[in-house]
Amino acid sequence: MRKPKVNRMVLAMCLWCFIMVIFYVHSNLKPASAQGSGKSSDQGKSGRSPLQMLHDSDQLEQSAVQVTHQGRRELLEDACHSYTHKRRVLIPEDLKHIIVDDQHGLLYCYVPKVACTNWKRVLMVLTGAAGPHRDPLAIPANEAHVPGNLRTLSEYSTSQINQRLRSYLKFVFVREPFERLVSAYRNKFTRSYNTAFHKRYGTKIIRQHRPDPQAEALERGDDVSFEEFVYYLVDPATQREEPFNEHWERVHSLCHPCLIHYDVVGKYETLEQDSCYVLQLAGVKGQVTFPTSAKSSRTTGDMAAQFFHSISPFYQKKLYNLYHMDFLLFNYSTPEYLKFQ
Ligand SMILES: *[C@@H]1O[C@H](CO)[C@@H](O)[C@H](O)[C@H]1NC(C)=O
Repeated sequence: MRKPKVNRMVLAMCLWCFIMVIFYVHSNLKPASAQGSGKSSDQGKSGRSPLQMLHDSDQLEQSAVQVTHQGRRELLEDACHSYTHKRRVLIPEDLKHIIVDDQHGLLYCYVPKVACTNWKRVLMVLTGAAGPHRDPLAIPANEAHVPGNLRTLSEYSTSQINQRLRSYLKFVFVREPFERLVSAYRNKFTRSYNTAFHKRYGTKIIRQHRPDPQAEALERGDDVSFEEFVYYLVDPATQREEPFNEHWERVHSLCHPCLIHYDVVGKYETLEQDSCYVLQLAGVKGQVTFPTSAKSSRTTGDMAAQFFHSISPFYQKKLYNLYHMDFLLFNYSTPEYLKFQ
């Protein structure tokens, strides 16, 4: 009696998957005048969508900023071509990190530890989710992360998804992979207030990767060393059990940059210029300013080097292999402090 039922379920699932397949075909052609989408009074003076602004400006003589972004797009495309082989179609599950601004025609893939709180704040202002606030910094950080304040692309129907992927400006912000990783470690494991992460991940990491742990450490999970965190990341059992938490998941897996052809690849290293460029394309430069944050406590390359000092070459190599795609796709060179080279 059980078997047919299981079979029926499998069949139903397959059918569902088939129906939900997203037929998003990338074209390098000029977008057809963003029909019906993103029409809004907010859109630049010319009434053109951000994606049209990008294509229009690329026709003219390019400024230095445009040349930079064109270079990044081409490098990403070449790297995708060289290093990924399996071509697959997108499913809604892949689009959970992509935030939609229907008023301006923007799609933003958020990557934790790459100024995503500030980008969410800006998008809340732009989409009206911030109420009367016009200053992004007036929005509390935790408010920016409340699910439901902003819509993600996975919430739309297949045809709505395809239409947005074709006609909206798609952008992502990335960061040197190991700096981002050290930043995640510092933020989630070395701050006493992050008890949720200590309980959820810290206790597990200590149980599995510390020989002879103390009962108190097992209970609290609040003193995970960077070394133990690395053991946890490179252990194949970790990802067999569940996907990585988004704070240390690779951009390649969060944003699918080889399936979704991002128009702007912003970098944390040039956060201010790149944010400004996106807001300019969106035609909202006068309406909202991207917050410039204090740089004092930021994780830097030097800081990352210090953390990696405690990691043996063997584990450095394993970790590098894990994040290799993010290094390749976004043109980050192998850090010089690594000892396996
Ligand atoms: C890639 O990185 C190198 C070294 O940092 C740099 O010189 C080059 O301009 C970058 N290429 C692109 C397309 O960004």
